[in-house]
Amino acid sequence: MYLTEEEKKMLEGNYGQGTQLAMKILVAIGEAYDAPKMVPVTRTHVALSNQEADLWFAEKLTAGEAVCRIRPTVNPSFNLEQFQAITDIDREDEEIVKRTHAAYTKLGAIMTYDCTPYLEKNVPRFGEIISFSESSATPFVNSVYGARSNRESAQSALCSAVTGVTPYYGFLLKENRAGQVLVHVEADMEDDFAYQMLGYFAPKKIGFSIPVFEGLTNPSKEALMNLGAQLNTGGNVALYHILGFTPEALTMEDAFQGKKPQYEVTITNNDLKNMREEISDKNGKIDFALYGCPHFTIDQVCTVAEMVKGKKLSVPLFIMTSSLTRSLSQKMGYADIIKTAGGEIVEDTCMDQPCWKFLYGKKGITDSPKCAYYTKRRDMQFIIAPLKESIYAALKGEY
Ligand code: F3S
Repeated sequence: MYLTEEEKKMLEGNYGQGTQLAMKILVAIGEAYDAPKMVPVTRTHVALSNQEADLWFAEKLTAGEAVCRIRPTVNPSFNLEQFQAITDIDREDEEIVKRTHAAYTKLGAIMTYDCTPYLEKNVPRFGEIISFSESSATPFVNSVYGARSNRESAQSALCSAVTGVTPYYGFLLKENRAGQVLVHVEADMEDDFAYQMLGYFAPKKIGFSIPVFEGLTNPSKEALMNLGAQLNTGGNVALYHILGFTPEALTMEDAFQGKKPQYEVTITNNDLKNMREEISDKNGKIDFALYGCPHFTIDQVCTVAEMVKGKKLSVPLFIMTSSLTRSLSQKMGYADIIKTAGGEIVEDTCMDQPCWKFLYGKKGITDSPKCAYYTKRRDMQFIIAPLKESIYAALKGEY
């Protein structure tokens, strides 16, 4: 693999052991994928997970005095102060949150703790070469903006943040971004929830191929967030196209780069209904409602506030979002409305964090299959329902 003089210096340890380790890992990835060279990145996002292995790696880099050349935004951990007011936090968990914060801060990361940085803090332009991890982020930046990122792990994205480069392979090359399967969507895509189900179901029919969706009209940003997050959870799809809508698929010719689709599939209302029945827990009483996987936008927070205004929730309701959106919700009065109804907006938090231990063994409702998927290993059950229906359920205490 060709390396510039500067990259060779990093590999030889001239900038310290942390940078050397990061470059070694990138070279190994590059060689595994036959990348001819490294290319500079202009943005990075690291799916910090606040778990032991993640912390081990971040601390290894700081011990080797690595500092990020391209400062990454980072995924949620959990907000200690907020959760200490809601529940008891184990000492061990508190310790890991603090150490993770310290390690990433030392590395020079921008501590956004948000899984939708592509909406407001780390927004790439068309064709920009970047290194993004996080399952909702990579499909969004690739598909909706036409930026170029491989499906990075937290660690490979962090190595790119430290070195400022990434191996040149995969989705960074135009020819690897062509659509592979034409997906005719015959389902009524009447709300953002339908995109959750489409994203979760599509990989059952297309495997890990790049889909070109035909039949989707003007999806909202929330619909696009949902679609990508679920495609990359139900499957391993970090790039999709929507015919006539996303920038690399304005025409069929563009979408498939002049080739024919490998095959075509059709997705119907029935497919989405069956998928939902398969992954959702049985209807009935619920103990809580949980939203924000991916993090809620201000418009979604507004929907909840409008529905619970002047009412009392029968079960606790939690909304996960960025600190920026929470602060906006406070300014706009949504946070007070939700709090008075018995709900809570929590910032910087992911449902896959140990701060939710008080909900283990309980049954909740959510609008996100991804939320239900990850929490199974934490013994939480979820009914999956459209946002408005699920808020009615939280008001009533059952679905
Ligand atoms: Fe965000 Fe965590 Fe869900 S990072 S998308 S809340 S799994």
